Amino acid sequence: MVVGIPTEITPNETRVAVIPATVKELVKKGFIVNVQSGAGGGSFILDDEYIDSGANIVATATELYNSSDLVLKVNPPEMNVQDGKHEVDLMKMGSAFVSFIQTTKDLDEVKRLQEKQITAFSMHLVPRTTLAQKMDALSSQSNIAGYKAVLIGASHIAKYMPLLMTAAGTIKPSKTLVIGAGVAGLQAIATAKRLGAQVSAFDVRPVVKEQVESLGAKFVEVVSDSDDGVGEGGYAKETSHEYKQKQAELLKGHIGNSDLVITTALIPGRPAPKIITKGMVDGMKGGTAIMDLASENGGNCEYTEPGKVINHNGITIDGSFNIPGTMSIHASQVYAKNISALVMYLCPDGELKLDMDDEIVSGSLFTHNGEITDERTKNALGDVA
Ligand code: NAI
Repeated sequence: MVVGIPTEITPNETRVAVIPATVKELVKKGFIVNVQSGAGGGSFILDDEYIDSGANIVATATELYNSSDLVLKVNPPEMNVQDGKHEVDLMKMGSAFVSFIQTTKDLDEVKRLQEKQITAFSMHLVPRTTLAQKMDALSSQSNIAGYKAVLIGASHIAKYMPLLMTAAGTIKPSKTLVIGAGVAGLQAIATAKRLGAQVSAFDVRPVVKEQVESLGAKFVEVVSDSDDGVGEGGYAKETSHEYKQKQAELLKGHIGNSDLVITTALIPGRPAPKIITKGMVDGMKGGTAIMDLASENGGNCEYTEPGKVINHNGITIDGSFNIPGTMSIHASQVYAKNISALVMYLCPDGELKLDMDDEIVSGSLFTHNGEITDERTKNALGDVA
């Protein structure tokens, strides 16, 4: 079976789906590994390093896709301007494909893959179970995003982060507020604490209170009788109007007092909840910043311009995409490990084996043989039709 790794074509993408160490794993398993020349460039991996680990280098995307039974990528397939073709059109009919793809949102790509009878898996759909932890690329990349958002945010604000006693007087620690204490949020809390900031955090899932407090941060709690924000599988769900009002009142004061706000709040399969209103931002002081990690799903702040860094009355609102890509060496290292673990699991004997009773296989698969196999994806396509 030939596994192919094309060069990512999404603008500013620096990550790559294999590193030399995972090429070695794949070759050992009996796969032939083809890597497009330059695919590792953004992560500082040379073609020669791939060759030394057992891969073949191919010159063009067309050649790469033509020769591959299974293609591994970071981003969903898209138009390859250089080759003048969509990446799905370059794929072999009936071949297999794995990347990050939001299958209830990237519907055009899903339909293209379905029509080409690709067996396609999404890293977004890998179940968040203990057994699948080593394949959990959402967590590995969110961890990086949470860490780096604090470093970037700290450099946006016009203040020190820690408490300092200097000859010129005492500097009070900065106040950091983290909204959404999932994987990215917890890493942001830990990083801001390490930099010496005074940290508080808010989440709709009360269960995270203990985790927030164990990191030394204060939990901002909305007192509610119901399990309002708790959805399926330990994820968040949309909250009631009454809860949202209570939340807004509570957060307004906290946001106005914060020097750095990091937002990471997401609800699977839905646009990001708008938690920080324009009015709340207008209540912040100059020299402060908001890092909106939910920008790829529309953002948690009403002023966020997805993909851009803007300055609003002295407040920096950073909606940059792909923060993990700013740490490409480690982002590629962990992503490549995640995807390699998934490939090993899907191909226990070196060939794709679709055991639909296995929740990792059936959970991450969304199209096979021209059929959509994932219910939520099917519903999203139906809604559009
Ligand atoms: P996510 O990226 O979907 O959401 C981030 C955070 O935003 C979540 O904590 C969510 O509760 C919060 N949120 C959503 N709406 C909000 C709102 N309106 N206001 C404030 N906060 C809001 O979630 P992520 O980080 O990918 O994972 C969430 C949880 O899933 C983890 O904390 C963990 O409990 C579980 N998980 C389990 C794993 C395992 O068992 N292997 C692996 C990864 C996650």
